Amino acid sequence: MIDFAPLPRLETERLVLRGWQESDIAPYVAMNADPEVMRFFETPLSRADTEKALTWYQSGIRTTGFGRHAVELKATGEFIGMTGLIAVDFECDFTGAVEAGWRIARPHWRQGYAKEAAAEVVRWGLEDKGLDAIIAFASTHNRPSIGVMQSIGMVRDENGDFVHPAIPADHALQPMEAWWIRR
Ligand SMILES: CC(C)(COP(=O)(O)OP(=O)(O)OC[C@H]1O[C@@H](n2cnc3c(N)ncnc32)[C@H](O)[C@@H]1OP(=O)(O)O)[C@@H](O)C(=O)NCCC(=O)NCCS
Repeated sequence: MIDFAPLPRLETERLVLRGWQESDIAPYVAMNADPEVMRFFETPLSRADTEKALTWYQSGIRTTGFGRHAVELKATGEFIGMTGLIAVDFECDFTGAVEAGWRIARPHWRQGYAKEAAAEVVRWGLEDKGLDAIIAFASTHNRPSIGVMQSIGMVRDENGDFVHPAIPADHALQPMEAWWIRR
């Protein structure tokens, strides 16, 4: 059983960004097991991996008041993915910075949903939560994710490419690009 933490409900034109609930687990497990969705990660996630990630999201929400939101389509109530903020907990030049991330289920790609959701969580973080800056990072090969960063006005740190310490240094996903947005 996952003990879900409350998270403010945010709304955009087409989306609701909200705290997690039991009914999100099955579609989130399915999307994280999709090799195409996870092609810029080391491997797709098992059910246990996804449940572990969800538990980790909840503990971050309880500690910081922000975290990964579940993303729902307003029109149908369907769960389509996640976006949100998390404190960087690995050893790097920006440990402790707040990171924005996103993942959308494949049938919903290229409809502007990631951009719409990410723009709202970043706005919320900077304006409502008073954060000074938010980082996003992705494998330099992950052009869809870097497209999201660009589309919401993030700026690449041209000197900020880094080797993710949780991934082997010689892995094809390396290096990561670091993009920032400031208040
Ligand atoms: C990255 C991801 C969330 C994008 O979701 P999406 O809803 O399809 O993205 P959007 O439709 O909102 O597009 C946002 C921007 O990125 C660009 N983009 C999206 N997919 C792209 C692709 N395959 N190739 C190039 N650019 C792309 C769009 O052109 C758009 O820019 P624009 O508004 O200037 O035209 C989705 O591809 C995904 O879930 N990928 C797998 C998970 C992942 O890699 N997450 C990030 C880990 S760091």
